[in-house]
Amino acid sequence: MNVVILAAGQGKRMRSSLPKVLHPIGGVPMLAHVIEQARALEPSRICVVYGHGGEAVPQAFADQGLAFARQAPQLGTAHAVQQAMPHVDRAQPVLVLYGDVPLTRASTLERMRLDDAQRQVKLLTVEVADPTGYGRILRNTKGAVAGVVEERDATDKQRAIREVNTGILCVPGMLLGQWLADVDNDNAQGEYYLPDIIRLACVDRVPVVTERPDEIWETLGVNGKAQLAQLERVYQFEVARGLLDAGVTLADPSRIDVRGTLLCGVDVTIDVGCVFEGTVKLADGVSVGPHCVIRDATIGVGTRIEAFTHIDTATVGERARIGPYARLRPDAALADEVHIGNFVEVKASTFGARSKANHLAYVGDAVVGRDVNIGAGTITCNYDGANKHRTVIEDDVHIGSDVQLVAPVKIGKRATVGAGTTVWQDVPAGGLTINDKTQPHRADWQRPQKARPAAKKPR
Ligand code: UD1
Ligand code: CA
Repeated sequence: MNVVILAAGQGKRMRSSLPKVLHPIGGVPMLAHVIEQARALEPSRICVVYGHGGEAVPQAFADQGLAFARQAPQLGTAHAVQQAMPHVDRAQPVLVLYGDVPLTRASTLERMRLDDAQRQVKLLTVEVADPTGYGRILRNTKGAVAGVVEERDATDKQRAIREVNTGILCVPGMLLGQWLADVDNDNAQGEYYLPDIIRLACVDRVPVVTERPDEIWETLGVNGKAQLAQLERVYQFEVARGLLDAGVTLADPSRIDVRGTLLCGVDVTIDVGCVFEGTVKLADGVSVGPHCVIRDATIGVGTRIEAFTHIDTATVGERARIGPYARLRPDAALADEVHIGNFVEVKASTFGARSKANHLAYVGDAVVGRDVNIGAGTITCNYDGANKHRTVIEDDVHIGSDVQLVAPVKIGKRATVGAGTTVWQDVPAGGLTINDKTQPHRADWQRPQKARPAAKKPR
């Protein structure tokens, strides 16, 4: 089988400089969803017809084994398919899909399949309450499909028909080539209409069989931002349902957004308002509190991510506790049982097992050993204005509150650094390091007073 995906239209109603089919649903371009569905059918060829937006579409999908056909100007859907015909093996059927109809299930498309030898046309239709804007399916007195009439060419009686064309059809390649040559543009829009081949099939006595999708939303297209938002909700609800079916506990399936791939182990719990981006893996027993944003991360068995935590490109070990209000930035790698608490930022740093930074700290470009305790307000001063430098904190180190570690610097095993110390030289193993400081007391010092406003005179 061949698949041709129509994606040349402008998408004027999106009011965007981005070609319509590149707008995302679930974090990936609409067209990527259609290509994925097409691939599930294992076709010998996939050809994408592009046009509006220049080379942005082929560039976005380069090196994926797709064929591209440029359609300029865009003279209608039949004209679009014609541009793809040089890429089509006419000995096989051709399935036509639409780049702006992103949520068709592979199981529905599977029913649209024709064998190479089958002399038949399959058309995907749906019965809708409001058929406005769609091509209507015309049937003869015996109930057989006789043609498709576009809304703008339809009579009032035809407009009342509620069975509509989804656009998706499957046609033997040889016949498609013949019929496309016979399609004209003698219609209200002056366009070459692909559904006209249905009429030509009837003339040639080739049977037209209709199939139905599992769900009506599978055939909904995106014309404007409102439909994009609507289909995003449909998509997210389907993702949520898949997670629930896989045994994930979701506090509310309508309040989770997965923009990429979320892989969950057994007994994973996700509270409301979480956003997952890229590829996120949550191992068995992980719980994610409300309103977390997690992108491209791997979280180990039994770890708790508390509310309002932000994780980007990081790995967390088993039985760790992160948050609330923690931020793990790219290349944070935390071992088992690490605790990262509120308002702690970790960037490009490793933490050994059981190490903790529980409050208000910045740890960047650091190697932190095991069983280290980093006090509140501690920061690694890793940036000298030009270069980033590393901080090494060895096992069993205790760092008091409000310590500045001016990198490059190394703190030896079991060392203790007193509160408020600025460390700019390496610290040996063991012992206590503090800065020389005095704490003068001036008993005669007076706190400045604000001048009192003059008392108001009574009237
Ligand atoms: C089309 C069908 C209509 C069907 C409806 C379902 C035609 C004439 N009508 O109408 O029967 O009910 O889809 O949604 O086909 N495209 C190109 N090149 C072009 C024109 C369109 O690539 O020259 C692409 C568009 O990018 C889009 C798809 O084809 O992905 C459909 O085009 P659109 O203009 O939206 O057709 P409709 O008027 O919706
Ligand atoms: Ca459309």
